[in-house]
Amino acid sequence: MKDFKSDFPIFKNNPWLVFLDNAASVQKPSYVIEGIKHFLENDYANIHRWAYNLSERSEIFFEESKKIIKEFILAKYSSEINFTYNSTYAMNLLTLSLKRSGKLKKWDKVLVSIVEHHANIVPWLILKEEIWIEIDYINVKADYSLDLNDLKKKLTPDVKLVSLTYASNVTGQVFDLIWASKIIREKNPNIIFVVDWSQAVPNFQVDVVALDCDFMVITGHKVMAETGIWVLYGKKELLKELTPWVGWWWAINWVRKQEYMPSGLPHRFEPGTPNIVWAVSFLRALEYIRSIWWYDTIVKNEEKLIKYVLEKYSKLENRVNIIGSKTWESRIWVFTFEIPGINSSDVAEYMAENNICVRAGQHCTEPLMDMCNLKSTFRMSLYLYNTKEDIDKFFSVLEEYLIKNNK
Ligand SMILES: Cc1ncc(COP(=O)(O)O)c(C=O)c1O
Repeated sequence: MKDFKSDFPIFKNNPWLVFLDNAASVQKPSYVIEGIKHFLENDYANIHRWAYNLSERSEIFFEESKKIIKEFILAKYSSEINFTYNSTYAMNLLTLSLKRSGKLKKWDKVLVSIVEHHANIVPWLILKEEIWIEIDYINVKADYSLDLNDLKKKLTPDVKLVSLTYASNVTGQVFDLIWASKIIREKNPNIIFVVDWSQAVPNFQVDVVALDCDFMVITGHKVMAETGIWVLYGKKELLKELTPWVGWWWAINWVRKQEYMPSGLPHRFEPGTPNIVWAVSFLRALEYIRSIWWYDTIVKNEEKLIKYVLEKYSKLENRVNIIGSKTWESRIWVFTFEIPGINSSDVAEYMAENNICVRAGQHCTEPLMDMCNLKSTFRMSLYLYNTKEDIDKFFSVLEEYLIKNNK
């Protein structure tokens, strides 16, 4: 297996670093860092309505980024790719545009799962406050997989939209969204199906056509692009029907003193000057992944390391609880733990003293934490540069901490 660490300057500059906070954001390879630098030094200018060559070149890179994302998710058209700033923004752009277009009305029901990140709960709660939609939660089973029978039961005629994560940022469980999609479509083909792909983008590719989702949010920074660049994918026919919640200069066809006309796709949902440089970082990140055989390398490495973490964990099972499945199938390399009677922030701080980066808290999933009756947990999460040695270090420091605290 290639030593991926050498592609990432952060590890050269911090040789002691054991970076296990990848579910929050991943490190960037030289290919992306140098790619951004090269773009800024050679090709950068504002885009759209250019008359000069530099701006044209800049726009070509921006459009190339959309093309590679389209290829990445097997979408039909580049115009279905809309750049936004983060997942929370993308979700709000969607929810408020749905409201503005009259696609959701009073007493319409929205289903989400109990494990969702707040980014896929709060925007719906805002609509609940504003137009009185209803929200219900689909349960998970004992292994934290999506309870498809509960989904079937809750798909009542008033359900207009279902919004689900592809993988949980706490349990690491991958939801069977292919089945969920079939169930939803069989019940009512007009239900809007939204997928939050934020946490699973680093782990596997998605075919949006096979999945038959109407909208999807896609992260940049968890897949080696910079922060501040996300995508809202939407089926072209549906995007055309939506009135964007935001509208400024570039998203406008014409303006009169008392009227304006929004523009068509793809710019309708990208008002103002877009984040051109970070769009180029997305292009370079996906080129880097393509250079390592798309996801084949990542998936093989992931399976091996998941098994290794679970094997290590099995030796601590009576002292530390895992919030997630103990089998390697249908999960990504995100692992959340709690030690009864111990504040998880203390564990994370002890790890930090030993140069290990993990995250403590509720991970923006309070409904899930309430269901599990947990106040705080600590999470270690891997990416393609992590090794068995990183995992060994994590478990040996954890063991040390348990002994010191008589656990
Ligand atoms: C599943 C999931 N959805 C949404 C988000 C929110 O992303 P952002 O903070 O970029 O808005 C995250 C962040 O970790 C996540 O894991």
